[in-house]
Amino acid sequence: MAYDIAADIQRLKKEKNAVILAHYYEDGDIQDIADYVGDSFYLAKMGQQVQQDTILLAGVVFMAESVKILNPTKTVLVPDMEASCSLVKGAPYDKYLAWRRQHPDGIAVTYINSSAEVKSISDVIITSSNAQQIVESIPKDRKILFGPDQHLGRWLSKKLDREFVLWPGACEVHVLFNAKKLYELIAQHPDAVVIAHPECDESVLQYASVIGSTSRLLEEVQKNPAKKFIVATETGIFHQMQKLRPDVELIQAPVMDSGCSCNNCPYMKMNSMEKIKYALETAKPQVGLEESLRLKAKVSLDRMMDITSGKPVTWPAEFTV
Ligand code: 13P
Ligand code: SF4
Repeated sequence: MAYDIAADIQRLKKEKNAVILAHYYEDGDIQDIADYVGDSFYLAKMGQQVQQDTILLAGVVFMAESVKILNPTKTVLVPDMEASCSLVKGAPYDKYLAWRRQHPDGIAVTYINSSAEVKSISDVIITSSNAQQIVESIPKDRKILFGPDQHLGRWLSKKLDREFVLWPGACEVHVLFNAKKLYELIAQHPDAVVIAHPECDESVLQYASVIGSTSRLLEEVQKNPAKKFIVATETGIFHQMQKLRPDVELIQAPVMDSGCSCNNCPYMKMNSMEKIKYALETAKPQVGLEESLRLKAKVSLDRMMDITSGKPVTWPAEFTV
């Protein structure tokens, strides 16, 4: 009989009292052995709530760090500690701090795709599924520093008609979608609904009828009666889309070089079933954060959780670090 790694992982989960949280960009086999699959906000919320002793986050490291910040008594495992994100890499702490210090009166609204260190000097964390609600809760007379994703920031700032000071970061996957090629593809498939993640460049976003987080895009495919979708986000999400709507045709939005598989996130795709099994067996690699850093980073994550659950928050008058 062929070796069944999924069965082994299920056994280990029970033995170790562990739960697996997976992001939509993981490979289908990983999504299928997870207890919860979702977007980055959902994973942070679930990570805060689950009761098991061990949480394995099959996603990228900043997602696991957020869980550790919010739920510090749990053992938080990742399949691969190298699974970073171009937005995290493009926003080093020292430079981000210098940028913040240039605008001490501003409120730093920071994408969850950031390091714990950058979160520790931010006022509030957002994800693409809650960004609008959070920005709308900030008094209109306050200046907003938005980072590290300039495309999400630009899209939001136009949508809310509010000026942001933008950090110049980008997702190395979403910026590769090509507007000219997308225009040509739409001409070939006039019946297709174009859906896009807000990390795409505005030249691509202009063609999308729905722009939103991974969970919003999935919801659209589930609810929209159309039979064809052009999808401008990472390919892992096709797994859930096709499960929910086996009757629809999903077309990947084009990138400039049609021969490459560039709309796969190289960090998300570092994870594998073998690495998940190893992590559960050995309790390694584990996310560890110094307590003083964790407590500072928790302030901005707590504001996100409070605003999204309808609790009142206060904003610091000035940045003093
Ligand atoms: P979501 O919060 O929409 O899942 O996005 C996370 C991400 O990394 C997109 O590239
Ligand atoms: Fe980061 Fe982009 Fe990968 Fe998302 S898809 S984890 S933003 S590099």
